[in-house]
Formats: sequence, structure tokens, C-alpha cells
Amino acid sequence: MKTEFLKACKGEKTDFTPVWIMRQAGRYLPQYHTVRSKGTFLELCKTPERAAEVTIQPVDYLGVDAAILFSDILVPLEKMGAPLEFQEKRGPVFPSPIRDQAAVDALGIPDPEDDLGYVMDTIRILRKELADKVPLIGFSGAPFTLATYLIEGGSSKNYFQTKRMMYEAPALYGQLLDKITECTIAYLKGQIAAGAQALQVFDSWAGVLAPRDYAEFAFPYVKRIIAALKEATDIPLIYFANNGATLLDQTIECGADVLGFDWRINLDEAVRRVGQKVSIQGNMDPIALFLPDDKLAERVKNVLVQAKGARGHIFNLGHGIIPETSPEKARLAVELVHSISREMR
Ligand code: CP3
Repeated sequence: MKTEFLKACKGEKTDFTPVWIMRQAGRYLPQYHTVRSKGTFLELCKTPERAAEVTIQPVDYLGVDAAILFSDILVPLEKMGAPLEFQEKRGPVFPSPIRDQAAVDALGIPDPEDDLGYVMDTIRILRKELADKVPLIGFSGAPFTLATYLIEGGSSKNYFQTKRMMYEAPALYGQLLDKITECTIAYLKGQIAAGAQALQVFDSWAGVLAPRDYAEFAFPYVKRIIAALKEATDIPLIYFANNGATLLDQTIECGADVLGFDWRINLDEAVRRVGQKVSIQGNMDPIALFLPDDKLAERVKNVLVQAKGARGHIFNLGHGIIPETSPEKARLAVELVHSISREMR
């Protein structure tokens, strides 16, 4: 197996810097549209053969060093009892937001195999089809990020309803987060049992919190998930707190093997601050994929140079690749990571 990704996660020496791209399976790829046009996004997530097919598309086309399960962070919430829709222009919508005691009480904890078997089946198919060519990353959302969708009823600008619940009804907020945490631990353990070879926890909106609010209302749940998984498995765990530079003094203590970084921090600063305690992942601005080729090569090299002192480095974008990106540029970026990092060894 091409294990550079797994080695870098654990801080072992690699022949080149492994790379994968957040949202690597998706709308910038014409081959994704071909499969997606057969139904809705949720139908695609719930059809294991097709979800596996689009997972593999970027592995074949881009030459990345890891596959990431095609699914969405929000699907377990649907099985907790919160109906979920993806609307063409608006994105994810929960038509009945969770804002009071009765709504929190009504949420259940889904069983990974009984309720989310389609995800577990996708993982099993992928392990067969990938045949150890590259490792498979499973994932979940972090509890705070997931809670924002449930409480707001969808995406949000200022997270008013979420922060309001934290401040006005902290006990209720805590009960909701406890349930999401329990659900996430079971869900990720299910993914491990099905064959996931690494796990990433996406905390996409962590950066909207003041450090003291993150400490009280988000981070304890992340730590609880990672501690529970560490008791159950040796596979690498990656924690990505988007826009999280201001939270780094805290996130360094999360217990994961790898911390993911967005582009708002220079990786040399990240390395200085995390030392040899964890490996790092990131962090080129997704819009850098719109630079001319020579400038793109400079950017890629810059990230690799900044990450040089890290215990281990997995190259990635600082957040998801955007649908307008040219597939050729994404492929070039992957080639550049491989060739430049080999030269730097
Ligand atoms: O990374 C991958 O290639 C795996 C697939 C993946 C998707 N969503 C597919 C998707 C992963 C890992 C996610 C995670 C996810 N989903 C996050 C965390 C990562 C991040 O970007 O911060 C979040 C916040 C979501 C919630 C979500 N899903 C939103 C806000 C949207 C709509 C906006 C958007 O970017 O499209 C989605 C839809 C979604 N998830 C699509 C895909 C490919 C587009 C659906 C389509 O085909 O119409």
C-alpha cells in the first residue's frame, strides 16, 4: 500500500509529502456531475456503489495519497431524528431547528449499522475497490459545528441562535452537545469497524467562537470524542478546526495525531507552536489553484518549506476545493507536491 499518508500522520519518515484535498470528490470534477445527475446529493450519499465510485474518482484522476469517504457531516443528524434537506441554492436545511427541551429530548442516538448502514457499506465497498492502493479516511463533524446546523436550521452568518442558546440556556445546550458527542463516538467507531484507516473530525465553524467560548462550549466535546477513539483504535486521528489559529493553544491538547490548518496561519508558525507533539496538515489557500502554473509551484513550495520542521506533514488545502476550480490545476498541484517534496528530501 502507498502508506506515505499514514506514516506522515504518525510522524514517521516519508519519501515525499503525501497530499489529499478536502472536498476532493465533488463538483469541480465533470465525472462527479455524471454520477450526481442520476439523483439528489442525499441519494448519492445513500447509494453505496455510487458513493464509492465518486470517492475513487479523485484518487484516479488527481493521484492523491488518500481517499476520503464520500458522504456529509450532517447525515448522522438526520438519523438522530432531525429531518435534513439539501436545497439547490441554499445548501443544507433542517426544517425543524432544535431550540427547546422537547426538541433535544426527542433526539436519539443512531446505531451505525442499523441506521447508517449505507455509510458502513460504502466503506466496505471502498476497502475492496481501493485494494490498499491508498488508505481510506472516514470522518465526522465536530459537535459544535454539527450543533450550529441543528440550532440554526442550516448554514448561518453570525450563529445568533447557537450562541444565544449557549448563553441563555447553557444546560440545554450541554444536553444537546452531549447527545451529538455520543452519536459521533458511536458513528466513528462504526466507521473504524467497517474499515476506515484514518479519521478526520471537521470543526468547520470553530473559528467563529471567542477562545473562552471555544474552551467552554466546543473543545470539551472534541476531547471527549478523541479520548474515546484513542481507547478503541491506533488509526490516525486528524482534527481540523477551520479558522483556528487563535485556538491553537487549546487545540494542541486535543489528543489527535494530526492537526489540520487553514491558510490564515503560516505553517512555520504552526510548527513552532506545536513542536514535535503532532503532525500537521494543510494549508494552501484553495484560491491559489487559480494562479498561473509557475506561481502555483511557488506557493506549493512555500507551504512545503514552511512545514519542513514538522514531525510529519500532509499537504492539503486550507479548506475545501471550490466548484469553480479547474481539475487540471488540482492535478498539477498534486504532482507539484510530490515532485518538489522529493527534491527537498
Ligand atoms: O471531502 C470529500 O471529498 C468528501 C465529501 C464531503 C462532503 N461534505 C460532500 C459534499 C465532506 C468531507 C463533507 C463535509 C462537510 N459537509 C463539511 C465539513 C467540511 C467543510 O467544508 O468545512 C460541512 C460544513 C458540510 C455541510 C455541507 N454539505 C454544506 C454547507 C453543503 C453545501 C455547500 C457546499 O459546499 O456545497 C454541503 C453539500 C455537499 N457536501 C456537497 C458535496 C460534494 C455538494 C452537494 C452537491 O453535489 O450538490
